[in-house]
Amino acid sequence: MGQSKRLRIAIQKSGRLSKESQQLLKSCGVKFNVNEQRLIAHADNMPIDLLRVRDDDIPGLVMDGVVDLGIIGENVLEEEQIERQLAGKPAECTKLRELDFGSCRLSLAVPNEFKYKDANSLEGLRIATSYPNLLRRFMQEKGITYSDCMLKGSVEVAPRAGLSDGICDLVSTGATLEANGLYETEVIYRSMACIIQSNETQPTEKQALINKILSRINGVIRARE
Ligand code: PRP
Ligand code: ZN
Ligand code: MG
Repeated sequence: MGQSKRLRIAIQKSGRLSKESQQLLKSCGVKFNVNEQRLIAHADNMPIDLLRVRDDDIPGLVMDGVVDLGIIGENVLEEEQIERQLAGKPAECTKLRELDFGSCRLSLAVPNEFKYKDANSLEGLRIATSYPNLLRRFMQEKGITYSDCMLKGSVEVAPRAGLSDGICDLVSTGATLEANGLYETEVIYRSMACIIQSNETQPTEKQALINKILSRINGVIRARE
């Protein structure tokens, strides 16, 4: 395949980060139009291609050097990093900076009728999650044994469906927990969106473009503060 001359940036196709990721790049002067059917959007005024993919795929694409930059939640980045370290796959990339959107927390939550005292109340429970590695790290630190139930989506319905006793999922406003009769008991990770770069050595012009984009991002965020 070879290295592309154009700078490749992976962003979330649809979800919590997609609008703001696109908006940030537009504010940096990158002109592009997104066609919902298309994976790639070419910028008109700079040698930049945007790859619109599932958020969970972004860290791996950057760590494998398939794309040069990625905009992703720190939670997804960290989860993938642990996963890859365990699998002996490349797990390195550089976090260029934290961004000013995508704030959320990864939390444990249990059904409203559950009597929770402290983390020890989780002993022996089955927890549904899309973040098994971050959950394991927290539970190991607390010395709690548990079992997990891996779900990529609809985690919040697992207890009611009889699949698990509790969940470990992202919370932003808390509306999802409330709508599903759950309450938050422990915050295990706080996250923002961030921009990451692959650790591959870049040709000079491409690195110069990365530096330019980054300095514009700094300017845009400073102006919004
Ligand atoms: C997260 C999480 C909940 C929702 C919580 O999903 O899985 O569904 O956000 O937000 P709330 O507290 O404001 O209700 P996300 O948007 O990250 O989508 P994904 O799980 O499909 O990646
Ligand atoms: Zn996701
Ligand atoms: Mg969700």
